[in-house]
Amino acid sequence: MTYVIRSVESEQELVRSFDVLGAQFPRPLTHQDRRFTDLARRFPQDRSMMLIAEDEEQVVGGALAFRAGEGGPSCDVTLRIIALLPEHRGKGLGRQLVECIEQEAARLGVRGIGLGADEAVGFYQHLGYRGKGGMYKALPLSSTHSDAHTRRRALEELRERREARLQQQ
Ligand SMILES: CC(C)(COP(=O)(O)OP(=O)(O)OC[C@H]1O[C@@H](n2cnc3c(N)ncnc32)[C@H](O)[C@@H]1OP(=O)(O)O)[C@@H](O)C(=O)NCCC(=O)NCCS
Repeated sequence: MTYVIRSVESEQELVRSFDVLGAQFPRPLTHQDRRFTDLARRFPQDRSMMLIAEDEEQVVGGALAFRAGEGGPSCDVTLRIIALLPEHRGKGLGRQLVECIEQEAARLGVRGIGLGADEAVGFYQHLGYRGKGGMYKALPLSSTHSDAHTRRRALEELRERREARLQQQ
């Protein structure tokens, strides 16, 4: 089956999607849960990591993530919730969603992805996440990015010092 994976388009859609995903847990979550607040706050900057999967234009699952804190350089991403309707599980869609978030996070220069895995620990371990309770995966591209960032910053500092020297002369 081919799914369409796309970013959530509006805050209203974020609310509806969270409710669909939250309903898949033994103790259902809704957007009234405090865990929704961070997603809503970060929606304008991080909606590229708030993904839903559609089959024939119906939402069948999704994964919602955001950058921690204010999302500065070398921050982490929190994967807040991932869930699929039962008939769409076990077909590789969960992996696809996690990999899309990892790719986008790496593109943004994020260090790694953290999550609280009450359920599905085996799934996350299989995808390279480690830890108990709180699980984490460092992103391979992020060190390259931060090296590039450090080099760029060092060059800027050299240029600033040279300009300051020239002004003193
Ligand atoms: C957890 C969930 C998102 C996984 O999505 P999925 O589409 O069923 O998983 P996938 O088919 O993409 O599985 C990806 C890989 O993980 C493996 N895997 C899946 N569940 C696993 C488990 N419990 N233990 C070990 N490996 C597991 C699969 O065998 C597959 O391996 P492969 O890619 O090497 O063939 C989905 O089952 C779900 O919605 N569960 C209910 C909600 C939930 O528990 N969410 C997690 C909250 S922490």
